[in-house]
Amino acid sequence: MTNIQQNKILIIDFGSQYTQLIARRVREIGVYCELMPYDVNPHFIEKFNPSGIILSGGPDTVIQNDSARAPNIVFNLKVPILGICYGMQTMAVQLGGEARNSQKAEFGFAQVRARNHSKLLTDINDETNSEGHVLLDVWMSHGIEVTKLPKDFELIASTDSCPIAGFTNSKKNYFGLQFHPEVTHTKKGIQILERFVVTICKCEKSWTTENIIDNLLEKIKLQVGSRKVLLGLSGGVDSSVVAMLLQKSIGDQLTCVFVDNGLLRLNEGNEVMKTFSQNLGVKVIRSNAQNYFYNKLSKENDPELKRKIIGKAFIEIFDQEAQKIKDIQFLAQGTIYPDVIESAGAASGKAKVIKSHHNVGGLPDNIQFELVEPLKELFKDEVREIGVMLGLPKKMLYRHPFPGPGLGVRILGQVKKEYADILRKADHIFMEELNNQGFYDKVDQAFAVFLPVKSVGVTGDERRYDFVIALRAVETVDFMTARWARLPYDFLDHVSNRIMNEISRVSRVVYDISGKPPATIEWE
Ligand code: XMP
Repeated sequence: MTNIQQNKILIIDFGSQYTQLIARRVREIGVYCELMPYDVNPHFIEKFNPSGIILSGGPDTVIQNDSARAPNIVFNLKVPILGICYGMQTMAVQLGGEARNSQKAEFGFAQVRARNHSKLLTDINDETNSEGHVLLDVWMSHGIEVTKLPKDFELIASTDSCPIAGFTNSKKNYFGLQFHPEVTHTKKGIQILERFVVTICKCEKSWTTENIIDNLLEKIKLQVGSRKVLLGLSGGVDSSVVAMLLQKSIGDQLTCVFVDNGLLRLNEGNEVMKTFSQNLGVKVIRSNAQNYFYNKLSKENDPELKRKIIGKAFIEIFDQEAQKIKDIQFLAQGTIYPDVIESAGAASGKAKVIKSHHNVGGLPDNIQFELVEPLKELFKDEVREIGVMLGLPKKMLYRHPFPGPGLGVRILGQVKKEYADILRKADHIFMEELNNQGFYDKVDQAFAVFLPVKSVGVTGDERRYDFVIALRAVETVDFMTARWARLPYDFLDHVSNRIMNEISRVSRVVYDISGKPPATIEWE
């Protein structure tokens, strides 16, 4: 098996909001990398054997005594190091330089003068000024700056308000940048990172979608051998890509269970079955558990308890189906790298414990399967690219996010089949119009919500007393904050008319104009 992780970069995480972005950029360049927290046991760093190290930014103030430090071992490994923002500041302080509060904090665009033709920045420029200095348009975000270079370091970049905006020890191949090359606002950021990982650290660009797939297929075969694997298939991106990888690698030894819980979107169950079972030849058992879920949910109003009921019912059904299939030794899961990072810290090993956020919703302890988690080193965009290459429909891979508990969180209060049917139709009309009129890809998430309140309306001479549907559409980058989408009034008017005309039980449609915060994206 070719080792596509042989040359790799270690990113030491000081807690910046951009750390995962650094990792994604390095991988886009074609080089494997992993994140480890700054306080990781040095043993893991040594064992990882990186070809180069990037020290990330972070929220700490480097001049405070208890602020985070890079583990000393990184300076003993004799590999190139790039410190970004906080990473640069702590490198400076740890190697004998000094830092202090900036006289003028900088947040946003800045123009950096690159000096002395360092290995890192040579021939990378946006403009040249009249004095022949190379100028770079960059993104700055800092309130502290390096004020004294450590011994054997020289200046490679500066701005008017930040005289030491970059430094190097060229013998050791250590570099520091006060600006953020990982964000797209730094125009030549990707070239700078590529210069570091490819030219300076000498990493080969072998982390490509094709190589990743070949590697994963071999790894799965090696782990599973001729034994059998069970996968909970939801039709979401991660479990769908796992299904495709397993199908390609071990074919018939894979059985998928698709649970129709009655909380799916219109035709979703049939579409998942058609895509996997008919078109792609994957063995999928469909469990029609709609009534099981509706019964369990029939008396519950509380959103958190509804979520618990749905999670528990899922496990019960999945477990029942699993019992029927003989000789299963492995359970496959669509865990991806951000899940691993968030649940335990990549290096501690704790991440292998099954967490409740996983696709299957947290399995009971008595299921004694070994786990197959082929995506656990991959970011979502890498997973999507693999899906495209393995022939999954783009429509499925680039769909708006859909919560695990499905329509259960979009029907307020008690869940009933009657309500779910109304909501499915309304949501379908909304999606159809978003797609037809070219708005689907312009918003990041859109859906309909069922409100179990009745409101008066009139149709012809008839008075109506029926339910309310709310429409929600948001623009967001990370789903942590969101802005309500300014969809055109005429579009909303058209969708609203269709919903009220085509669904007899809806008398009123409203559009949600709440931002997050203070509102959340889902209504619950
Ligand atoms: P909120 O409502 O917290 O949602 O603003 C943020 C994003 O998370 C999605 N979401 C979920 N995704 N399982 C998921 O996989 C869940 O239980 C879940 N709940 C919310 C939500 O759709 C939005 O994109």
